[in-house]
Amino acid sequence: MSLQASGESKTIALRDTEGSPQAVSVERPLVPHVPAAEAVVILDFGSQFTRLIARRVREARVYCEILPHNAPFEAVLALNPRGFILSGGPASVYDLGAPQLPEYILESGRPILGICYGMQLLARRLGGEVQYADRREYGQAYAELVATSPLFRDLPNPLSVWMSHGDHIALPPPGFSVIAQSANTPVAAMSGYYSSAGAKKVPVLGLQFHPEVNNTDQGEEILQRFLYDICGCQGDWTPEHFITTTIQEIQDKVGKEGRALCALSGGVDSAVAATLVNQAIGKRLTCVFVNNGLLRQGEAESVLETFRDRLGLNLIYIDARERFLQKLENVIDPEEKRKLIGNEFIWLFEQEARKLGKVKWLVQGTLYPDVIESATPETSSASRIKTHHNVGGLPPDMELKLIEPLRYLFKDEVRQVGAELGLSPEIVWRQPFPGPGLAVRVIGAVSEERLVVLRAADAIVREEISNAQLEGEAAVWQYFAVLTPLQSVGVMGDGRTYSNVVAVRAVSSKDGMTADWSRLPYETLSRISNRIVNEVPGVNRVVYDITSKPPATIEWE
Ligand code: XMP
Repeated sequence: MSLQASGESKTIALRDTEGSPQAVSVERPLVPHVPAAEAVVILDFGSQFTRLIARRVREARVYCEILPHNAPFEAVLALNPRGFILSGGPASVYDLGAPQLPEYILESGRPILGICYGMQLLARRLGGEVQYADRREYGQAYAELVATSPLFRDLPNPLSVWMSHGDHIALPPPGFSVIAQSANTPVAAMSGYYSSAGAKKVPVLGLQFHPEVNNTDQGEEILQRFLYDICGCQGDWTPEHFITTTIQEIQDKVGKEGRALCALSGGVDSAVAATLVNQAIGKRLTCVFVNNGLLRQGEAESVLETFRDRLGLNLIYIDARERFLQKLENVIDPEEKRKLIGNEFIWLFEQEARKLGKVKWLVQGTLYPDVIESATPETSSASRIKTHHNVGGLPPDMELKLIEPLRYLFKDEVRQVGAELGLSPEIVWRQPFPGPGLAVRVIGAVSEERLVVLRAADAIVREEISNAQLEGEAAVWQYFAVLTPLQSVGVMGDGRTYSNVVAVRAVSSKDGMTADWSRLPYETLSRISNRIVNEVPGVNRVVYDITSKPPATIEWE
């Protein structure tokens, strides 16, 4: 079977914020472009760990994408995968309507690694016996390596592994070997081949435990053995390779004459996106920086100084503070705020594009987690949590076409690319800031008066945490203030006060997809609280948010 990428394009359907699909004239390759010579496809059967598999594979310097288990064959082919990884999932292979194994992967001639449910699907399809379980096995276990396998080359025996499964395999398929066992799991790992008429012999491997979670001691090595020793990958997913292929792709897409607009927010994502496009097409890129009035203290000045004055980008500044605030008046619903702000941004860009003449392209710093969490059609098995405005809020009649060079990157990969592009550490390590800005941190209705209070409190939080120079375990990934809609009673001097409650949020996270609240030193919390109630008029109480993600999200709205 020949695997060949197609360069064809089509109009795709994005979801509007009510969740119904809408046709948007966004041209996107029918199939994703592959920014590395080699790739692996992860088919998602609904496991909570699927993204972790993707992280681990990328950390092993192999490009991969998550596709739904029922993704069209052409989407899979387009990535020209060297191998497949099948994720776990909550179903039992015996459930009515349980996700099925796509037959094409067996016929593709590429190695397959099934994890948990993925392995059970393979075992059942190839004639093994999957035993239905009443109870789940959950937690640490020891897997004894009972036969040699390239998957476990040079690894200690037994392996400390993490189990999380209901059903298990009682008998592997005919011709398959059991390569690991544990006390409760007769087939903790299996290995064999699939061959059919016309196709090559395909190595098929399965793990009942989860190599992608940190609790499996040698998990990274096991995945690397699969990628390198079994799939034959070389590990070409590096920032340099990404930069070269992306610049080339942008040049091909935009052509010799094409002009692009870039929505610059000052954050690392749009800075890296703009720099990449700038390297590809130079002055034919115009960056637009909108001051929507929802920026943090000193932010507008600093963006102008960095990008226009220091980096010399072609930058237009739009002061739209009044416009945004008018639109947001009395809007309380977070999704409505996001949608409105997203639409407003696009509208402004379109105005700018018209003024500039023949601009056809809009550059955005959309990242892979945004794509996954917004549950666009590419990842239809994920449920939508928030509409990140740069994915979901596009109006149906949008005239600009998108360039999203970071669409398949995780945050830490963007930082590596930024550093490779020579951006300063100050930009590369800037903490994330949501597109809808302070509008999703002023809980409830947004007004200039409330923004003034939030900005002042937020500046104190940022200054104190940054001064505390927390490192290692204590390092904080993102920290900010939230203006709650609560008023509380206080006493100041001799008088009673009845004023705002500010919440402080500080989290540790690797990529924003999961997060834990930061155990800030009491001393730092105390300084923040004292300074806010003393220095910010209109605030008489400060609380600290001690919720992780999940179940909360990092932002409050
Ligand atoms: P949540 O609140 O969903 O946020 O846990 C995860 C990360 O994403 C940032 N965030 C956004 N970024 N547009 C963005 O570019 C958005 O609409 C948006 N909403 C949240 C958030 O600050 C955190 O880093």
